Amino acid sequence: MKIAIVIGTRPEIIKMAPVIDEIKKRNIEFSLIHTGQHYDHEMSQQFFQDLELPKPDHYIGVGSKSHAKMTAATMKGLEDILKEEKPDIVMVQGDTNAVLAGALVASKMHIPVGHVEAGLRSFDKTMPEEINRIVADTCTHLYYTPTEKAALNLLFEGADPENIIITGNTIVDACLRNLQIAKHKSNIRFPSDKIITLTMHRAENVDNKARLKSITQALLELDEFMIIFPVHPRTRKNLEKFHLYKPLAEAEHIKLIKPLGYLDFLLLLSKSYVVLTDSGGLQEEAITLNIPCLTLRYNTERPETVEAGGNILVGADKKRIIETLRLIQENPNFRMKMINAPNPYGDGKASEKIINATLDFHNKGKLTIKP
Ligand code: UD1
Ligand code: UDP
Repeated sequence: MKIAIVIGTRPEIIKMAPVIDEIKKRNIEFSLIHTGQHYDHEMSQQFFQDLELPKPDHYIGVGSKSHAKMTAATMKGLEDILKEEKPDIVMVQGDTNAVLAGALVASKMHIPVGHVEAGLRSFDKTMPEEINRIVADTCTHLYYTPTEKAALNLLFEGADPENIIITGNTIVDACLRNLQIAKHKSNIRFPSDKIITLTMHRAENVDNKARLKSITQALLELDEFMIIFPVHPRTRKNLEKFHLYKPLAEAEHIKLIKPLGYLDFLLLLSKSYVVLTDSGGLQEEAITLNIPCLTLRYNTERPETVEAGGNILVGADKKRIIETLRLIQENPNFRMKMINAPNPYGDGKASEKIINATLDFHNKGKLTIKP
C-alpha cells in the first residue's frame, strides 16, 4: 500500500506528524506533499525540525494568494504529483485550502480520500474552513472522525456508516508525546505565574478592524495578567494595518513574540493560567493539557470542549472577555471545574487507529472507488 499525505499549514504538519510516525513504524510506503501555503521558517520548517519529520517529497510552493488562486494552484500541482505517485489513498487533515484542493483532485482521479478530523461542523458557512470541511467530506472515502458527534454529523449528511471510523484526534497523540520531549529540550522561561497564552488568526477576527480593536482593548485592560502573544503572520499584518500594534507593543504586561516552535509552545501552554484563542487546535490542546480555554469566537466546530466544561465562547466582545476572565480569577472552584473537564478527543492512539483502519480497508479490497 502507498499513502500520499498532503499538508499545507502549521496545524496540518503538527496533526499529521503522529500519523507519519505510525506509517514509518510499520514500513508502509508513503509520499509527503507540502503545498507551501505556510512557508515562513517559524510556520513550517520549524515543525519539521521539532517533530523530526522527513523532508517533503514534493513542495508545490503555492505561497499566499486569494482563496481561488491558492486552491487552483494547489490543485494543478497536486494533479501532476498524484499522476506520478499513483497512491492507493490520499490523506488530508483538517479544513484548510490544502484539504479542499487535495480532496477535490484525488476524488476526481478516483483515488480514495482519507480525511483525518472528518465531520467537524461549525454550521457557519461564512467561515472559509466550514466550506472546506463540507466539500472535503463530500469527496471523502474514509472518514477518520475525532468524536461520536463528528461521526453523527456525517451520518446526518448521508455518509456510508461503514466508512466512518471514530479514532480520537491526532492532536492528543502529538501533544502528549511532545510535551514530554519539550520538558527536556525546551529552554523557554516564564516571567510570571499568571500567564495568559494568546493566539488569534481567524479571518473573521483579524481581518475585521472593529473586532480586532475590541479584542486588543480587552488585552490592554487585563494588566493583572502577563499576556504572552505569539503573533501569527496574518495577525501581525492586520494589527499594523489597523494601527493596533503599537499600543500592544508598549503595554508592559503584553509580550508580543514571533510564532513559537511546537516544543516551546507546548511548554508555554502547559504553564498557562488560561488560554485565550480563536485557534481550532488550541481548543483541543487546552482540554488535553487541563488548561481552561476561552475561545474568541461565537461558535465552534469543537462543541465537545464546551459541553465538557473546559471551553467558554467569549466572542470578540471586550466586556465579555474581561468579565469572564475576572470571574474565573475570583472563583477558584470555577477554574478547577474547567481544569478537570474530561478530554473528548481520545487517549493518544488516534494515529494507530487511523493506520489500522486504512490497512484493514486495503487488505479487504475496499480502498477503491468503483465507477
Ligand atoms: C490558514 C488556514 C486556516 C488555519 C491557519 C493555520 C485556509 C483557508 N486557512 O489560515 O484554516 O487555521 O492557516 O494557521 O486554509 N503568511 C505569511 N507567512 C506564512 C503564511 C502566511 O506571512 O508562512 C501571511 C500572508 O500575508 C498571508 C496570510 O498570512 O496572506 C494568511 O495566510 P493563509 O495561509 O492564506 O491563511 P491563514 O490565516 O494562515
Ligand atoms: N502553535 C505553535 N506555535 C505558536 C502557536 C500555535 O506551535 O506560536 C501550534 C498549537 O500548539 C497548535 C497549532 O499550532 O497545535 C494550531 O495552529 P493554528 O492555530 O495556526 O491553526 P488552527 O488549529 O486554528 O487551524
